[in-house]
Amino acid sequence: MASNKSLLVLPGDGIGPEVVREVGRVIDWLDRRRAVRFDITEDLVGGASIDARGVAITPEVIAKARAADAVLFGSVGGPKWDNLGFDTRPEQAILGLRKELGLFANLRPATVLDPLVSASTLKPDVVRGLDIMIVRESTGGIYFGEPRGIETLANGERRGVNTEVYTTHEIERVGRVAFELARKRQNKVCSSEKANVMESGLLWRQVMTELHKREYPDVELTHMYADNCAMQLVRNPRQFDVIVTTNLFGDLLSDLASMLTGSLGMLPSATLGATDEFGRRPALYEPIHGSAPDIAGKGIANPLAQILSFAMLLRYSFDLADEALLIEQSVTRVLASGLRTADIMEAGTARVGTSVMGEAVLRELDKLGG
Ligand code: NAD
Ligand code: IPM
Ligand code: MN
Repeated sequence: MASNKSLLVLPGDGIGPEVVREVGRVIDWLDRRRAVRFDITEDLVGGASIDARGVAITPEVIAKARAADAVLFGSVGGPKWDNLGFDTRPEQAILGLRKELGLFANLRPATVLDPLVSASTLKPDVVRGLDIMIVRESTGGIYFGEPRGIETLANGERRGVNTEVYTTHEIERVGRVAFELARKRQNKVCSSEKANVMESGLLWRQVMTELHKREYPDVELTHMYADNCAMQLVRNPRQFDVIVTTNLFGDLLSDLASMLTGSLGMLPSATLGATDEFGRRPALYEPIHGSAPDIAGKGIANPLAQILSFAMLLRYSFDLADEALLIEQSVTRVLASGLRTADIMEAGTARVGTSVMGEAVLRELDKLGG
């Protein structure tokens, strides 16, 4: 099987380059053993780009991302750049890519792999077999709403403003993604907002209800306030199949859900845009974790969320479902063999660093698919 799909790799800052390096080895393995070839370009984003080029992402890199069949993103940010203004921070790289490429649907699957059932801080009986998909809206809401800013009032006090805003079509398009996914899963969507206190939340609920009635009556739809949803995710997470929610609530709920799986270092994501008239769909893949400044440079970060993000890339953008499955199975087998990075350590397992974990995945790939 061959492929000449183009891939833009953006490692970023902190542990980003450390975990992306392990994906590089998986890519080399695919090249050697399965003759799957990609045209790969690598470039700078985030603090690394600020240091070299003065901005978190250049228009050239945005253009490369637009032209690529898929983008593999590491993570950006760190204390070195924390005092910069909002328009110039490293985080603008990922926010800019989402906005510029129209990547409105951020898919964050929280799946509990069997070997990690007791690595979660929650009881094994609560998380065993968990498989939920959080669909987070990612180009709207309070992240991008106007007005925004910090102003100084006449009395000398300062005032910070952000605006939560959603339009009908923004809600509908992410809702469709959630309903379509549900049809291939357990056929259940839970839509989460705060319609009890926010007009934008009320509109969200109305639009989801209408969309469901009009286009997806076969799917079960429930609504849940986001605060309750956070509680229910910890109380009984298996009640959920697909959760669809706003940009900000999705950010919070997905970090929360990551701990059901054992660690933030386990949760991958895909961020998808709309399919164009030629059948192309812009897409970016990244772990949901950040640059983890507290452990960066130590070689101990868990590379599995990044590797699993690459598996999602193969499945969603490159139509290589077999290879994606092979990687996912290899990850499960490594964990079953008892190798663990520090974040998923438990009694009776062996602690390894980032590159040994990567190597172990390659070994399982050899066994399964060599
Ligand atoms: P973080 O996700 O970087 O880290 C939170 C905690 O989880 C830390 O203790 C960290 O060590 C741990 N952790 C994260 N990933 C891990 C991994 N793969 N293996 C083991 N442990 C891991 O969040 P933060 O500390 O709040 O933010 C740090 C920086 O990252 C900030 O600048 C933030 O803006 C940025 N950030 C970027 C992205 C992104 O690029 N997509 C996402 C989230 C945060
Ligand atoms: C994420 C991150 C980003 C977000 C930051 C880095 C802008 O937390 O991808 O979850 O808030 O969306
Ligand atoms: Mn986040």
